[in-house]
Amino acid sequence: CGIIACVGSSNAVDTVLTGLKNLEYRGYDSAGLAIQNGSNLVVRKRAGKISDLTDGFAQELPQGVLGIGHTRWSTHGPPTDENAHPHTSASGTVAVVHNGVISNYEALRTELEGLGYAFESDTDTEVVPHLIEHYLEDGLDSDAAFREAIDRLEGSYAIAAMVEGEETVRAARQGSPLVVGIHDDAYYLASDVPAFLEYTDEVIYLEDGDVVTVEDGSLSITDLAGEPISRETDVVDWDPEETGKGGYDHYMLKEIESQPESLSNTIRGRIDPDEPAVHLEDFPRGCFEDVTEVHFVACGTSYHAALYGARLLEEANVSVRASRASEFSGRIPNPDGTLVVPVTQSGETADTLGALRAAREAGARTLAVTNVIGSTIAREADEVLYIRAGPEIGVAATKTFSSQVVTLVLLAERLREEVEGAIAREDRREFLEALSVLPDQIEEVIRTSRAEALSEKYDDRGAYFFIGHALQHPVALEGALKFKEITYEHAEGFASGELKHGPLALVTPGTPIFALFDGKHDEKTHTNAKEAQARGAEIVAVTSSERTASFADDVLAIPDTHPDLVGLLANVQLQFVSYYTARLLGRPIDKPRNLAKSVTVE
Ligand code: G6P
Repeated sequence: CGIIACVGSSNAVDTVLTGLKNLEYRGYDSAGLAIQNGSNLVVRKRAGKISDLTDGFAQELPQGVLGIGHTRWSTHGPPTDENAHPHTSASGTVAVVHNGVISNYEALRTELEGLGYAFESDTDTEVVPHLIEHYLEDGLDSDAAFREAIDRLEGSYAIAAMVEGEETVRAARQGSPLVVGIHDDAYYLASDVPAFLEYTDEVIYLEDGDVVTVEDGSLSITDLAGEPISRETDVVDWDPEETGKGGYDHYMLKEIESQPESLSNTIRGRIDPDEPAVHLEDFPRGCFEDVTEVHFVACGTSYHAALYGARLLEEANVSVRASRASEFSGRIPNPDGTLVVPVTQSGETADTLGALRAAREAGARTLAVTNVIGSTIAREADEVLYIRAGPEIGVAATKTFSSQVVTLVLLAERLREEVEGAIAREDRREFLEALSVLPDQIEEVIRTSRAEALSEKYDDRGAYFFIGHALQHPVALEGALKFKEITYEHAEGFASGELKHGPLALVTPGTPIFALFDGKHDEKTHTNAKEAQARGAEIVAVTSSERTASFADDVLAIPDTHPDLVGLLANVQLQFVSYYTARLLGRPIDKPRNLAKSVTVE
């Protein structure tokens, strides 16, 4: 979910709606806003996209100088008008938006119902406005009532609340992201910086336990007890232009095609093929010498990037594991030597944050690999390595996957140099040279890809498989994930050699299988693809070798590169296949159903 609030804006409706549109990637099954209009608090909300909200209420949206808004990714209750935020108290004088999960809401709801408060929604959030109203009725002032209510909550939240007749927004953060934006006398509060980036780049990242009061051109940050807290102001260097579509039909296509630039940013200043060496800004030579074991934790696309990094380390004889963050047991047998690496685009994914906290608890050293500066995971990990991909808006991750993989490739290079017993790369110079021209080769793939035509041929097959061996295996998994996310067609990725151990039963005449070759382990993929082809599958080879491709029904050609980097080029072809197939099928590419870009609940 995403929340936004503004105070002191000349037109709060416009500011809140713009903020909601910018946050829509965090959830888009319902949306709403509350505006202080003179002495009235006006709430408008409904199920559906933000455009449904604006279209539905276009004529009757209130004017005002402060407001709060919310775009929802359902956790408690289906996406209905009633479950949309803001939620209000029985008298309608308190309005609240919330991102997170209030874990003790059932007990609170029972207590409040016992006191006579009637609930209108299935959400956990609705307890908050009732609690605030309850404390107001008890005689507390608004500030005290808000703090008292917050004090009752368990779980995770970023909450913003307004009380009718007051030109004040109060907010609190515990476990869910919340950022303040400042521009002269105007203030913004949001789940994420892009929400208000067109108004200001001056931000304060709030911490858990912070309570914020914004009114009349003034901002105060305190702890729950009211003790003032001072927080630094940062300036973000993201360009609002970068968060626009820039003439493309979809963010996803823009982001796929911006990979030459984003990858150049990822590697800039970090590799020197002449030395040859990898320089990672905050990681001086020797800083990984105590590491004996690496453990990646991640979700979704980031997990696939982690698998890529893990395979590289495994081949270099480094002891390594990759866990889905939601499945991480928290057990680290050797915390002194273990480096736990959460990999996360947003830096806010609740499952990954949970794994990071468990790893810290167990006493391991933690190094986050993320895109978002100031994100919760960036701040909570001991160390951070940024992937520098720039803002990504399309829900399906594309350029950030590539930048994650390359960042992990760089980290793996350093680890294999420094971890005792690891095998150093003999062809390091050639490898780093290949890495330095990768952005140009991606440009070539973008210029020459036949994926659009291929998608037209294969757009109605019902099931799609992706296979690869070694480093191509995570790329096959990622290709299938991307495909299912945005086309809604059935797609699965398999290790090439596993195809015959079960999945082959799913192959029928005409089933497309995208087979990824790296020029080093081609035999296994070749044999298994042939076995499927003998049973009617149509093979699309993604390869740089004409010889390898000769048996295939179709080819997606990629330039020649180092075998350890091939996956990055193959992946761009697969991103295009997903994109063009989804477009043919008329899918809402940037906002696939049921998904959200960052899932801040477990
Ligand atoms: C969500 C998104 C996925 C993403 C995953 C992990 O499920 O829909 O695209 O891969 O979260 O996100 P993160 O921000 O941690 O990389």
